Amino acid sequence: MFDAYGTLFDFNAAAARFEGELGGKAARLSEIWRMKQLQYTWLRSLMDDYADFWTVTGEALDFALEAVAIEDEAIRGKLMNAYLTLDAYAEVPEMLQKLKSAGVQTAILSNGAPEMLKAAVEGAGIEALLDVTLSVEDVGIYKPHRSVYQMAVDALGVGAERISFQSANSWDAVGATHFGFRVAWCNRFGQPDEQLPARPDVQIESLAELPPLLGIA
Ligand code: LAC
Repeated sequence: MFDAYGTLFDFNAAAARFEGELGGKAARLSEIWRMKQLQYTWLRSLMDDYADFWTVTGEALDFALEAVAIEDEAIRGKLMNAYLTLDAYAEVPEMLQKLKSAGVQTAILSNGAPEMLKAAVEGAGIEALLDVTLSVEDVGIYKPHRSVYQMAVDALGVGAERISFQSANSWDAVGATHFGFRVAWCNRFGQPDEQLPARPDVQIESLAELPPLLGIA
């Protein structure tokens, strides 16, 4: 079971594509955009006012554009569209292929709205390598709420302890561990450990390390 953004798909690719037009502000914009996107999912969950991830992503982008003083409707549209065609991280197709060849069920569990996830999966050409794509849309609340992780248990029909969950987002890895999954935190960004009431089982730097961890060559 994989998280989507930051784990399978590179969200920095969206802003990086428009480096020229963003006049050197791409990295800062991307960082603020992502930070606000996540904050808004948590805040809306606490406020009990769910809006889908496409809406939240757009609202976060509006905040980020204002924060870096860019006023440009055209670039807003381009950045939102880029979110639908993010690149998968380089190791992802081969890693999924190894899991599938070994007969492992593979799935996504993400905050993403179903259409966003469908576009990303198809854009990256990995639809044949995934059995199920689950979106929080079905429960109307965001990670790390337990009902999100419960969806995976219900959909796969196996106990939480038999699900290996991978996320590059430390807080998501912690939430999934707290719920009861076996968790590999893919610490792509070299972040320190979260000081929260659970520790992921293992830390890896790339998803290429996952198949051997599961005993798959
Ligand atoms: C997701 C976010 C957390 O895909 O990256 O759910």
